[in-house]
Amino acid sequence: MASRRVATRALRVLVLHGPNLNLLGTREPELYGTTTLLQIDAKLAAAGKRENVRVTSVQSNHEGVLVDRIQDARSTADGILINAAAYTHTSVAIRDALSAVPVPAVEIHLTNLHRREEFRHHSHLAGVVVGRVEGFGSESYLLGFQGLISLLRARQR
Ligand code: DQA
Repeated sequence: MASRRVATRALRVLVLHGPNLNLLGTREPELYGTTTLLQIDAKLAAAGKRENVRVTSVQSNHEGVLVDRIQDARSTADGILINAAAYTHTSVAIRDALSAVPVPAVEIHLTNLHRREEFRHHSHLAGVVVGRVEGFGSESYLLGFQGLISLLRARQR
């Protein structure tokens, strides 16, 4: 089956941050570090600028909003970077949305889920994303971004 080709224009990446990630910087800093979400988004925007990638970042505490943005990505994004936060472990709706759209997604976590409570070991998203990056703090986003871009560029060739 022929893979979907992405035209050779600036790539568009949608970054989705789930619940409570708006509190990064002050939220359990011993776990999540002191980098704020604004700083993470600024780093991603700068990386996007260097790579000729248009980055749109959205944070929501609401599952349905995240589902809506994933659905919108069908016509607005070439790839998705998603830290669904607690919804990772609970949301069949977000998993189904990611399955429903033909837009590759990379799952991100600041922390290494397997070093944490058992209820965090299961990800509903793991089976429908192209890859996952976890455990590198805010760097997880940059590493995942690079992986996603490499994958999208390979599809452009
Ligand atoms: C998290 C891990 C989740 O278990 C937790 O609910 C979060 C953040 C992370 O980035 O490490 O909110 O997704």
